[in-house]
Order: sequence, then C-alpha cells, then structure tokens
Amino acid sequence: MINTPKQYTVTAALPYVNGSKHIGHLAGAYLPADVYVRLKRLQGKDVVFICGSDEHGTPITIQAIKENCTPQQVIDKYHNLVKESFASLGISFDIYHRTSAPIHHETAQEFFTDFYNKGLFDEKVTRQYYDEEAGLFLADRYIKGTCPNCGHDSAYGDQCEKCGKSLDPTDLINPVSTVSGNKPVLKETKHWYLPLQKYEPWLRKWLLEDHAKDWKANVYGQSKSWIDGGLQPRAMTRDGEWGIKVPLPDAEGKVLYVWFDAPIGYISATKQWALDNNKAWEPYWKEADTKLIHFVGKDNIVFHCIIFPIMLHCHGDYILPDNVPANEFLNLEGDKMSTSRKWSVEMHQYLEDFPDKPDALRYCLLSNLPENKDSEFTWKDFQTKNNSELVAILGNFINRVLVLTHKFYAGKVPDKKPCDELQQFLIEQKNKIDEAIDNYRFREGLAEMMNVARHGNKLLTEKEPWKTFKTDPESAAVVLYDCIQIIANLSVMCEPFIPFSAVKIQHMLGVQTPFNWADVGRADLIPGNHQLGSPTLLFEKIEDEIIDIEIQKLYANKLEIVASEAVVVPSVAPQKAEITFDDFEKMDIRVGTILTAEKVEKADKLLKLSVDLGFETRAIVSGIAAHFKPEDIIGQQVSVLANLAPRKIRGVESKGMILLAEDETGKLHFVKTKEITGNGSIIR
Ligand code: 2FM
Ligand code: ZN
Repeated sequence: MINTPKQYTVTAALPYVNGSKHIGHLAGAYLPADVYVRLKRLQGKDVVFICGSDEHGTPITIQAIKENCTPQQVIDKYHNLVKESFASLGISFDIYHRTSAPIHHETAQEFFTDFYNKGLFDEKVTRQYYDEEAGLFLADRYIKGTCPNCGHDSAYGDQCEKCGKSLDPTDLINPVSTVSGNKPVLKETKHWYLPLQKYEPWLRKWLLEDHAKDWKANVYGQSKSWIDGGLQPRAMTRDGEWGIKVPLPDAEGKVLYVWFDAPIGYISATKQWALDNNKAWEPYWKEADTKLIHFVGKDNIVFHCIIFPIMLHCHGDYILPDNVPANEFLNLEGDKMSTSRKWSVEMHQYLEDFPDKPDALRYCLLSNLPENKDSEFTWKDFQTKNNSELVAILGNFINRVLVLTHKFYAGKVPDKKPCDELQQFLIEQKNKIDEAIDNYRFREGLAEMMNVARHGNKLLTEKEPWKTFKTDPESAAVVLYDCIQIIANLSVMCEPFIPFSAVKIQHMLGVQTPFNWADVGRADLIPGNHQLGSPTLLFEKIEDEIIDIEIQKLYANKLEIVASEAVVVPSVAPQKAEITFDDFEKMDIRVGTILTAEKVEKADKLLKLSVDLGFETRAIVSGIAAHFKPEDIIGQQVSVLANLAPRKIRGVESKGMILLAEDETGKLHFVKTKEITGNGSIIR
C-alpha cells in the first residue's frame, strides 16, 4: 500500500457496449470510483480517471448477429448512449475512450509482441466448436447440450447449471450453438497461451501475502479461491475478424483475446488523455509512487486481480494495482438485475424519467452500495431515501437557514465569531469522511456527511432562532452564523457524493470561488456581512404515484418474461410428519454471511464455508459444491440452523447447517431474508 502517492491512476471497468448499462453497473464500479476521484481532486491531488468502451469480444459479435448488423454499428449505437448516461449522472471521467481507437490497437499489439519476443507464450493446436452458419468459433457459454452427468438438456459448454459439474464443451451430448441453433462442428485451431500457473508463486506473494490486510475480504477471498483452485494456461488469442489483429505473420484470422486487450485499454486511454492535455502518460503507469486503483464489479475480479497483474508483471515496466475495491451485486426488487431479462433500471431510462434528479439516484445507490455483500435497490427505498433524507434532512436544513437569514438579515451573514466547538466537530467529520473514502467505505463516508446535516438541524431545532430573534437577537445571529458555516462545509463534503447539489449549495451561498477540501473544518468559511444568493429548491419530494409507475413498468416486463418462458409444473414433495411447537422452538435459525468458501479435498459435493453469525464465525461444511462456485458465494447472506449438533465431515468439524430451497429443476437457492439483515439476527 502506497502511503503518500504522487499520482493517482483510477480506472473504472471499460463496459462492453453490447447494450445500455444499468444502475447495478453504476453501483458496482463507476459511482464509488467517481466519489473517490472527486475527493482526491478536491484535495488537490494529481488524478487521472479513466474509462471508455470495451468494443471487442464475443458479446458484441453476438449482439451484432442478434440485431442483424455489424459489430461496428452496435458499438457506435451504444458508445454514445453509455458515455452520455455516465456524464449526466456526474461520473467525471477525465477521458472516455474506445478500444477501437488506433492508439489502443498499437498499445495492445506492443504488449503481445513484447510477450512473444520474450517467449512467454505456449503455442497450442486444439479442437474447438465452430458454428458454420454464423462463421465463428464458439465461446463455451454459447454452446448448450445435454449434461453427461445428470441428463439436464440445457447445460452450458463450461458448466451444467443443474448438477453444477464443470464441463468442457466437447463433453456435451447433442451440442447446439446458441447463436444459430445449429449443431457446431469441431475444428482444429492454433492459439497462443499464457501459462498463468507459472506465475502462481509470484501471485501468492504479491496478492495473498502483501495484500492480505488492505484488500477487501470479498476481493481477497475470490482471488484466493481462484489461486487455490489451480491456475490454468489461458489462450490470449481468439479466432475471428472482430478485434485486434494478432501481430504475427502466421496469424491470419486471429485476434487478441478481449481480456488481453481490454485492460490495456486503461493504458491506451491514459496515453490519449496525455496527448490531449499536453502531459506525459508514463508517470501514471510506471512510477512507483503512483497509486493505481481498479474499480470493477464482482464479475471482473479475476481479470483485475490475477490476469492483468500477471500481464503487467510479465511486461516488467509497469506498476501493479494498489487496490481493486470491487463491489458485489446490486439486486433489484428481490431479483438479480439483468438487462436481457428486462429486470433492470437502465441508466438512460432513469435519466429519462428523472432528468433533474441525478443526485437522488447517486445518494440512494451510495447509501446502499454492495460493498461487502450483495445489496438491493427498491423503488420504495429510493423514494424514502429521497424524501426522508435528502429532502427532510439535508434540503430542509439548508433551506431553513437560508430562508431565515434572508428574512431576518436580508440575506447578509451575521458578523459573529467562529465557534471552537463547531470547528472541532467539523474537523472530526472531515477526518471520518476522508478515512472512510480512502479505505473504500463509501456508505460510511456518505453517512458521516449526513451526520453533519443532522447536527445542523439539531442545532437549529434546539436554538430556535425564529423565536429568539426577538427575545435574544444575539443568540439568533450566532446560531445562524454557525449554521451558515455548517452549510458551507457541507457544500464541499457532499461534493464527492452529490456533486450537482454541491454546486447549487455554493450558488445559494453566493460563493464565487468554489471551496476545496482544505477549507473543510473551518467554522469561519463565510465571512460576516457576506451577501448570500437566493435560496432555491435543492431536493424535491417524490410522490407515491411516480414510484408506482416505475414499479408497474418493472412488473410489466416481468409478466412478459414469465409469459415467454416455458411453464414448469413443479413437483412438490409431500409434507413430513407433524412436529410440536416445542420442536420448532428448539431450532436456533440465524442470519449469517459467508466469509470464505473453498472446496473440500476429494469431495466433489462439499464446500467448506466460514460463516459470520454475528456472535461468532464458524466453519460449516455444506453439500452445495455442485450448485455454487466458491468465489460466487463469498459475501452472500444465508440462513443457518445454528444449534445443530457439530459433526465431523471429511475431517472438518461442521457447526450448523445452511438452509436451502430446491426448485423444480433441482437447483438449490439460499434461503435468505429479502432485506440485508444484521448477522446473528434470529429467524422465527
Ligand atoms: O465486464 C465488462 O463489461 C468488461 N468489458 C470489463 C472490461 S474491464 C477492463 F479490463 F477493461
Ligand atoms: Zn448436469
């Protein structure tokens, strides 16, 4: 961990532009990254904030086939939509680049050539499935067939979702291409593989030892599980036309693997930004005192913690990420968010419905970020956060103070002395926010900012200047002076989180030169006799009808989905023998969070979990290995039968049982509370 960085290079995952992006993506990576960067900028740090479109890879090729157009048309359509949505939500990238840019192609090819010249690749010929109609080799996920293990007829080329068995596409019985619906044929093809396993010792030291303390548990846990599971050689090239040409003479029809080129996109974007701004790019990627941070969602952890660091290490000239503060998933109204299943709130749709409320969404998402475990967005919660917090606490405080100052003093700040106690409080809050954000605890940072507004409201309510103005004018003047200082501090403290409102607040204060972070903590930011601007409405209440429309829209989509999916008649197991209420009372069922998950040696079905039950963390062995990948369940909240007598399973003492529901296809699901609940909460 770098203590006093000279520069910050902050990247946010380059989204595939095979479609629009939803608010889950925003909460996963872009919003926390923006908060981080905004704070660093306020602190006067040298930061570059990088993002852009990931324009290669199978998702884009497939989307082009679906939309019956070229990949170029797909990316042109979505690049601007996504870029503009981010901008309208205040995500303040320094550059929003594209991986189709020539500078990116050159940079990615240089990396490949460097590795090739150093002899780092293994060249291998293998047989892979090819879709003759679509004219492409199929990635494992695009092949379906019957599982040789359980007979499920829709197993994917890499895994059967029913029995959980890991598969090779050639294991499938009756394989079908999901692109054309035809039977694919096996074709020989040559590729260049990076033997990831060779770097395992290095990775163990750099990641598992050196970052054991400063990386988030979900990120560390997932990375560890990948490394412990054994790293495999990975092809860094693919067959196809869409992508960056492999820069070798005998590589006709081969392109770079999208996960080889995409992260290099951060570097090429920095190069372009430096060119545009007459700066040097290299310090941001090559100097040891530069802090490199990758903000990504849960599904990108392995690429940013394992594959890209190995690439940077192989190259040798580059620094490694100081942190990858990845978030978990944001669910929507009790279900997984998904654009293709139309169970999502797309960024551009939100902006169409609430064009003047980017901060309401930022606030709601930030207060509920899936920082350590999956969290949930509901429209009702969005309404509550807006109405009961932004409007009732922050907006109300600012409005009351400004209106009173206009009423009593014609908008002139009373000329009083700064209060030491207030100054002390503001400094403490500033430090708390700083510390929280520096350690990627954005929810906490936001809460501490709101505590400042709460403090202001309390002061106002206790001192009642609207009453004392007549009876004790000195007291009224002092409290309004202090409250105006609180507002001035808030206008900077809130900027990383709700930047549009920050500008409005400073405008209302009549501040000409924007404040910066060094100004925060001062109880005399606005001098006496300063003329305030006019108060305007900062936040607006959102009525039930508006929220109901959003909920109805969402459920209308769900009905469409349900109607289009095959109806499955569930076979329900008969009820077991009756038990007494006392029997029931004996069970101690608790909410817990899975902290780590790993396979149990020589036991295909078992996972060893450590589960935080609030009062203690304990080991539980669960027969769910066929249904869940260890890396996918870290951070999940589950229900645990906590007082089940301990049992030794494969040499491990298991204390408790995870509760699961089996659906009609035999798939297991964790039984959990709809809202995130404190670990150790009793279920009854
Ligand atoms: O998951 C995605 O959308 C990827 N396109 C992210 C790439 S991040 C980086 F490597 F560019
Ligand atoms: Zn199966």
